[in-house]
Amino acid sequence: MTGTDRYCVMGHPIAHSRSPWIHARFAALTGELLGYDAQLVALDGFAAAVRQFANAGGRGCNITIPFKHEAAQLADTRSERVAQAGAANTLVLAGGRIHADNTDGLGLVADIEQGAGVPLAGRDVLLIGAGGAAAGALAPLLARAPRRLAVCNRTQARAEALVARHLDLAKLSNTELFALDQKAPEADFDVIINATSSSLAGGGIPVPASVLRPGSLACDMMYGAAAQGFLDWATQHGARARDGLGMLVQQAAESFLLWRGVRPPAGQVLGELRALLAS
Ligand code: ATR
Repeated sequence: MTGTDRYCVMGHPIAHSRSPWIHARFAALTGELLGYDAQLVALDGFAAAVRQFANAGGRGCNITIPFKHEAAQLADTRSERVAQAGAANTLVLAGGRIHADNTDGLGLVADIEQGAGVPLAGRDVLLIGAGGAAAGALAPLLARAPRRLAVCNRTQARAEALVARHLDLAKLSNTELFALDQKAPEADFDVIINATSSSLAGGGIPVPASVLRPGSLACDMMYGAAAQGFLDWATQHGARARDGLGMLVQQAAESFLLWRGVRPPAGQVLGELRALLAS
């Protein structure tokens, strides 16, 4: 593989990952010479796997469940986004050092604004969840200056802690940021984002339909069967439903940009991926 830079995605499980396919398309469409594969990493072997990959000449990794928090800690340097979220999905390996970044929230914002065509500035946004996925999204959402950004979560104290950590950023963007009671939210929103793993845990829709306005955009960070319940619920209540496939492709595009300095055509690759999954 002389002349071909190597990248990978590490996770456990990993067989389901679409990232190798997405990055292969980005490479083909931009003319970048790189290889990208999926690595199943033992639950207690993450740090060793990253070092081994770096020592073998690997240039970068995407990191998925359950290693995003460990990736943030392992890095020698980290972006402001990683410091805010406490989680990383992208490692840049150079000069024997590990730099961590987080492109998940950037991908979500790009998909909402460019993919769904909904600018976030001045909008009312509800973020459901307060785990790693929600934490990664909050700072990039605030950077788009919504009017109000509410966070609700099954465990309300976690939503309150997440809000407290971001109040300074909210001031900068002039956004009203607050935690909301998940069972009785008493407000409705332009954009609703499901960042919980409720569907995987066999739970129902975490919020009442009263959070939706006619024509609201309701996004799930998941795609496929895991997102279907939320998407059906949103559609049944007059909202526009959007799964997490666009976020997946957009976060990959942001990682590709970090590694290669070239922005790949994310919209085209999303269209191709949707067609592939539908066939
Ligand atoms: P991730 O990194 O994917 O965000 P996580 O950090 O474990 O994973 O967070 C999972 C999120 O889904 C949390 O917001 C969690 O709520 P709690 O903080 O109360 O645990 C939420 N969640 C998981 N199962 C849920 C369910 N059955 N109903 C509602 N929320 C749920």
